[in-house]
Amino acid sequence: MRFDIITVLPELLHGPLHHSIMQRAVDKGLVSFHIHNLRDYGLGRTKQLDDYQYGGGAGMVMMCEPLAACIESLTNVRTYDHIIYVTPDGEQLTQGLVNRLSLQGNLIIICGHYKGIDERIREKYVTLEVSIGDYVLSGGELAAAVLVDSVTRVIPGVLNDETSALFDSFQDGLLAPPVYTRPADFNGMKVPDILLSGNDKLIDEWRTEQSYERTRKRRPDLLK
Ligand code: ADE
Repeated sequence: MRFDIITVLPELLHGPLHHSIMQRAVDKGLVSFHIHNLRDYGLGRTKQLDDYQYGGGAGMVMMCEPLAACIESLTNVRTYDHIIYVTPDGEQLTQGLVNRLSLQGNLIIICGHYKGIDERIREKYVTLEVSIGDYVLSGGELAAAVLVDSVTRVIPGVLNDETSALFDSFQDGLLAPPVYTRPADFNGMKVPDILLSGNDKLIDEWRTEQSYERTRKRRPDLLK
């Protein structure tokens, strides 16, 4: 799977996409990340990217020409399954959307800044708009990193133990059960006996029960 990310702050994406599981996914050849500095497509001597909004009001708007030039430099070379704009007014990112996106081949992700991007770019090029939550970030880079990370980790082969993504919270509409490691007794706080029993069937049942219990308490909306 290939991600092309268009940004004015490439440094913000390098860290999240070049460590740990993301870097291993790249090393295994399962994904590739291509970060494009929008500044390279800026207008004139100053490489201008944004301008005042028509109609007045505070905040700059990202201009059409640099974005169109950058997008077309990519779409001229290969086809993309989606051109995604990360924005607070997009469709909410859920595990379901993450799983669907992980089946795609090539994605472009546009990171906005300032007041956002000119509406005509959304109309002409963008095929999917995604929000990572009901709050506003300073720019789209962190949202893009969240999107790329969540999609990449569910691609088969990315996690060593492939089944572990299947047991993540939300994969079956439930929160994950509690987990424990050594010591079995931490200052008098004991690991539930059943986890030490070696009985896989009973352990599975206990985990399912705990998942329901946790979901009922913390996120009853998921059970509806
Ligand atoms: N850009 C700024 N805030 C955002 C959010 N909540 N989701 C996606 N992109 C954003």
